[in-house]
Amino acid sequence: MPSHTFSVNGESVTVDAPDDMPLLWVLRDLLGVRGPKYGCGIDVCKACTSHLDGEAVNPCVVPVSEAGGREVTTIEGLADGERLHPVQEAWLEQDVAQCGYCQPGQIMAAVALLRRTDAPSDEDIDAIANVCRCGTYFRIREAIKKAAEAMR
Ligand code: FES
Ligand code: FES
Repeated sequence: MPSHTFSVNGESVTVDAPDDMPLLWVLRDLLGVRGPKYGCGIDVCKACTSHLDGEAVNPCVVPVSEAGGREVTTIEGLADGERLHPVQEAWLEQDVAQCGYCQPGQIMAAVALLRRTDAPSDEDIDAIANVCRCGTYFRIREAIKKAAEAMR
């Protein structure tokens, strides 16, 4: 079985897994990192959104072999110790979550967006395209704008 070494939330990990095993499976089932959620497994719902070297990816369609030597960040790695990331703070302030299932992915997508632009337009935010079955899109938009303000 091939072995893969990469970083998850700042810690080096080595896993034995087939090259084509989806990174989401490795995170959730082999490493017990369950923040990234399984929704569709085919790159549509984006409930699994995490970061690979700081960019948003959907690990349900990233083979673990692609993570080798790279840095994976999940919702668990976003806070700085006890201090939440400004996007997480804005999420709480705006009371965004309903059932919560899509929310780790929404937050990770929002953080990646705010790395690309510090003043996202409504169109930029809508382009995230993470699905929320509870329809929290309006509050997501408000929270991203609040977080952008706080981070400028
Ligand atoms: S589980 Fe739906 S995009 Fe990854
Ligand atoms: S909060 Fe329920 S799916 Fe988004």
